[in-house]
Amino acid sequence: MRTIQSVAEMKAVCREITRGGNTLGFVPTMGALHEGHLSLVRASKAQCRATAVSIFVNPLQFGPTEDLDKYPRMMERDSKLLEELNVDVLFAPTVGEMYPPGATTYVEVADLSGKLDGSSRPGHFRGVATVVAKLFETVRPDRAFFGQKDAAQVAVLRRMVCDLDMDVEIVVCPIVREKDGLAMSSRNAYLNAEQRQQALVLSRALMRVSHEVDLGERDPRRLVEIGTCVIAEEPAARLDYFEIVDPASLQPLSEISRGALVAVAAFIGNARLIDNILLAPR
Ligand code: PAF
Repeated sequence: MRTIQSVAEMKAVCREITRGGNTLGFVPTMGALHEGHLSLVRASKAQCRATAVSIFVNPLQFGPTEDLDKYPRMMERDSKLLEELNVDVLFAPTVGEMYPPGATTYVEVADLSGKLDGSSRPGHFRGVATVVAKLFETVRPDRAFFGQKDAAQVAVLRRMVCDLDMDVEIVVCPIVREKDGLAMSSRNAYLNAEQRQQALVLSRALMRVSHEVDLGERDPRRLVEIGTCVIAEEPAARLDYFEIVDPASLQPLSEISRGALVAVAAFIGNARLIDNILLAPR
């Protein structure tokens, strides 16, 4: 595996890979890799001739009071994991390399960027869209792999790729969960043993909503109420949002349909956790 820090060198290496007609898969990450990330790498390896992964904790997508400084950084361990999966190229630029002094250009996906996580994390999706657009231009992958756990991010990036006529296919891979249902996340590292148990309330609320849909409930407002009540039963959880939306427009639904996105975000201690399911009413 080649590890590259410079944009110019990454461009040269990726162009060389694709010039010979090889398909290039790309998995952008912020590191602290877990099974969820590794499943994206495996999907890329299965679908593409070569795979590039980036590790970059992007300051632009963190708010001033968020966890940028605390965000887990474990480059040596991550690099070993990627090496074991036979990743071809690891791109690990510095902040100065990605955002040289004087950079003033941003990518703003209007409307969608203010929904779900975007409504409680102003500027977050502007940071995500800007860095992913830059990474796409550097790597120019055929396919880019993202996790369904970041459902709003997926909606924003699909919109960006469509609006800017980018030649990349977005591939979305299923959420990877711990045995007890907790969605894997780098931020789970912030939880102590007690909070780790309390965090299960997110997946429990989603499962409850799914169960109610199986029993015939079709009123999104009632389902949101039910999910919100489950979260309220865990006093350690502070709800950010519980919504049922269309997965592309992120607009609240007035009627439950196949593929409706049930999304939740809640704080457990200082950790802001997100989770979601796609409904499949019978
Ligand atoms: O999902 C993430 O880890 C980040 O938002 C991404 C896509 C790597 C951009 O920094």
